Amino acid sequence: MKSDKIESVQETIEQDKEKIKDIRTLDEFKVKYLGKKGIITELNSEIKNIKAEDKKPFGQAVNELRKIVTDFYEDKKKKYENEILNERLKNEAIDISLPATRIPMGSPNILEKLIEEVEEVFISMGYDVVDGPEVEEDKYNFEMLNLPKGHPARDAQDTFYIEGEEVLLRSQTSPVQVRTMLKGQGEIPIRVICPGKTYRRDDDDATHSHQFMQIEGLLVDKNISLSDLKGTIDVIVKKLFGKDIETRFRPSYYQFTEPSVEVDISCFNCKGDGCNICKHTGWITVAGAGIVHPNVLKMSGYDPKKWSGFAFGFGAERLAMLKYDIDDCRVFYNTDLREVKIFDRWESE
Ligand code: DAH
Repeated sequence: MKSDKIESVQETIEQDKEKIKDIRTLDEFKVKYLGKKGIITELNSEIKNIKAEDKKPFGQAVNELRKIVTDFYEDKKKKYENEILNERLKNEAIDISLPATRIPMGSPNILEKLIEEVEEVFISMGYDVVDGPEVEEDKYNFEMLNLPKGHPARDAQDTFYIEGEEVLLRSQTSPVQVRTMLKGQGEIPIRVICPGKTYRRDDDDATHSHQFMQIEGLLVDKNISLSDLKGTIDVIVKKLFGKDIETRFRPSYYQFTEPSVEVDISCFNCKGDGCNICKHTGWITVAGAGIVHPNVLKMSGYDPKKWSGFAFGFGAERLAMLKYDIDDCRVFYNTDLREVKIFDRWESE
């Protein structure tokens, strides 16, 4: 049988429960019963004054009281904490119906996009993409390309010299051919393309820029002929301008190729009828190319009796202007965001 004391404590517990209204009063309730000097704690310490046979039931009764208080406390605490959390979530909710501020987005430079497209096509044919320095030595830019000092063909590339006659801003990406072969040390095959910046002392206008980009290609292997070159150029041209585009070679002259050709493509705009883009000829010139000159192979350590190769050089701006119908090459290097906006047109393509 429970002692009167226990019963009265149980009663006050029940009464106190009713008065609890928040986490603070709940904590006070807990301290009142279970704190260091709490009612239940004190009851517990009375156990030593109790007769031996009553110790057990008394102890059990005190434990029950403790359980009532603890269970109630835990339960209520969880409820209050949930309420607080819900209240906070309600207050901190983000109103997603509010219109957002528009952040202006950039888009890739269309020239870069074109170069990447060309790279992908060549990579799929087993080519490596390589790089070379823009500040170049005369040796690589000219001499080892079969253009010795004083050769009149050098004049065509109005070159920026930096230090005397030896260091210059490369006027073409062709020196990368030489660097690649020297590095290759006779290894076969060589299959590289090199997109990169080039420089010439040109006055800037809609179709000229003192700095422009070329995409150079070089393949060296056994028995390479003009038809290999034509087949390869055909692939990239069709990819860029459409399946029905034809390629033709016209004889030309470059010191580092023999024979040399100009690469024309059939006009994608008028399909040969004649228009402004093709200057009413039905054909558009897009690259210089040819079979690598034996002297160039020899100077770079490849025996021309054993190996042969082809090389080509596209003007990157020219390709991009044709493909994206741009009539002024200065736009590629413009930093005025209002002008650069025109690139957004092709963003989704
Ligand atoms: N480097 C030449 C130029 O700038 C273009 C060129 C022609 C590159 C023939 C080649 C080539 O690789 O074989 O005009």
